[in-house]
Amino acid sequence: MSSDSWEEAKELVKARADIVDIIREHVDLKRSGFRYLGLCPFHHEKTPSFTVHPDQQFYHCFGCKASGDVFSFMMEFHHLDFPESLKVLAQRYQVELPEKSRSPRQREQDERRKQMYALNDKAADLYHCYLLEDRGAEAARRYLQRRNIPESVQQRYRLGYAPAVQRGGWNFLSAQLSEAERQLAVELGLQVVREKSSGYDRFRDRIMCPIYDSRGRVCGFGGRILGDGEPKYLNSPESPIYSKSRLLFGLYQQREAIRKQRRAVLVEGNFDLLALVARGFELGVAPLGTALTREQLRLLKPLADEIVLLFDGDQAGLKAAERSVPLFLAEQLSGLVALLPPPHDPDTFVTQFGIEPLAELIERAGPLPEFALAQLVDRYGETLDGKFKIIEELRSLVAAAPSPVQRDAMAKHFGDRLNFDPERLLAEVIPADSRSSAEARAGRSNVPLRKADLTGALKFIITFMVRHPRYFSRLLEHRVDDVLAGTVGETICIQLKALHEQGRDSIEPEELFSELPRGEERALVASLLTEASDSSPMLRDDPVQQLEDILNWLDRERMKKRSEILMRGIKAAEMSGDFAKLNELMQEKMEVDKDLKQVGIGGLRL
Ligand code: GTP
Ligand code: MN
Repeated sequence: MSSDSWEEAKELVKARADIVDIIREHVDLKRSGFRYLGLCPFHHEKTPSFTVHPDQQFYHCFGCKASGDVFSFMMEFHHLDFPESLKVLAQRYQVELPEKSRSPRQREQDERRKQMYALNDKAADLYHCYLLEDRGAEAARRYLQRRNIPESVQQRYRLGYAPAVQRGGWNFLSAQLSEAERQLAVELGLQVVREKSSGYDRFRDRIMCPIYDSRGRVCGFGGRILGDGEPKYLNSPESPIYSKSRLLFGLYQQREAIRKQRRAVLVEGNFDLLALVARGFELGVAPLGTALTREQLRLLKPLADEIVLLFDGDQAGLKAAERSVPLFLAEQLSGLVALLPPPHDPDTFVTQFGIEPLAELIERAGPLPEFALAQLVDRYGETLDGKFKIIEELRSLVAAAPSPVQRDAMAKHFGDRLNFDPERLLAEVIPADSRSSAEARAGRSNVPLRKADLTGALKFIITFMVRHPRYFSRLLEHRVDDVLAGTVGETICIQLKALHEQGRDSIEPEELFSELPRGEERALVASLLTEASDSSPMLRDDPVQQLEDILNWLDRERMKKRSEILMRGIKAAEMSGDFAKLNELMQEKMEVDKDLKQVGIGGLRL
């Protein structure tokens, strides 16, 4: 049935969809009187407090207070926005959506993407059949056998083999494509065209791992060389359907197991993952050769409450674990770390010791923030000087915690552990002007979480950031993240950083908006973007001038803060009678104070 408006489509979907059916796919529901009861998918619990009401078509959790209708369930559980959840449900219940909402250009793009998925699918099939059946894949089959990847896993992952030379050329794949497909193949990185040549296969003599998205579409490939050689992996380049920071190898195949246990184990390599699967361990996923990203955590978030990082115990593994702490905090996911004894990776470890010892290692995994602290203590030691350095580094960890309650908890935890006043950690994290000393003494922090609570300068900066995200890198150079820690601007900052790290330096305000999780920050950005021009100096003034003013202000704030920290250090050094330290700190404070005078008092023109 078709509908003329979105409103109508929504009503049709609502009339047809059954909330019990939909939720039942993810939650084990038992009838109890006029409603259904099950374990809440939105928080962790051992006794059911999640209810679904078939008559009124809504759900409610008595534990975490989550509640809503079919649409909110889709939005919350699958992390979709409203149009997306409407689309999914409309498809399921055969409600046609109004056509006119897609522009001709949009439709053309959608069509092209569809063809791209189809082409990847075809390529995956060709590589897969070749691996399983062709005489030319003898060496590849032997290689997989040597690595203990049985045929059942090869099938489940649709592993394949791209042969080296076919009929005298590098054209195993291209020979089987139409002209139109060949063009798409170039865009997907399956084909390479060089001047004068008519194009050749990019993947040759490699084991092919198709990378699926969570809907089971093949987005790209990771191709491993047989045996030793460089480069070990050749991966699909970024394309309209492949983005390595937004996909996880194995997620599609392992998601049900992960969802059942509410736990995922992150390993580094494709073959690490395959080795685990081959031994019946079903909770693994692997990022695609990059550091873990926030988008990847978001893919796991609806499925798991806990994510164990199973890393090599070498320096690189330790660093990688440490770097991921803020991501976990920002996504409010519990991260755990299990380290393998060097020089093992998960693959060599299970090959040598078997799966049981690995499962034990994972069971003993410790919380990620603790782990980060232990790393810092190892690195700097617990001398006075070491502690100062540790506090400096902990600031960013504490600042990344998303709520004041968590920040307090972390500060207290770290403070207890290192035997210093947690207030010190918070004082450095949270801008001084947003905390009253009475509250600070009471151990509560008054963080400007709401828009109305922001001081003029902070609001000015956040507005600028949102309106002109392309200048974000400049702000970051001047440590805008430190100033915004603990405010509603913090998530915006983290998000811009993520976009920035993907090398997207021409970020548009709308892009930022759509990347933000629903909630306060998103509402704030919306309101800042739509604020009437006459009420905001932002739109009238020259952004370059504004940027200069802000950078100046940031520098001054940082120096002031540094000066305060030094002052506290000086007092501590006096107390402990460490005169060398005292002298050094006083020297530095004089320098800072001198610089501060030079920067002058130019303020933000609000
Ligand atoms: P083996 O056990 O040696 O077969 O490799 P692995 O699959 O366990 O991967 P490894 O731990 O060596 O590397 C981790 C991940 O980084 C791989 O799965 C790839 O996604 C990526 N990677 C490794 N080597 C390369 C490379 O040479 N180029 C690119 N682009 N990515 C690589
Ligand atoms: Mn490996």
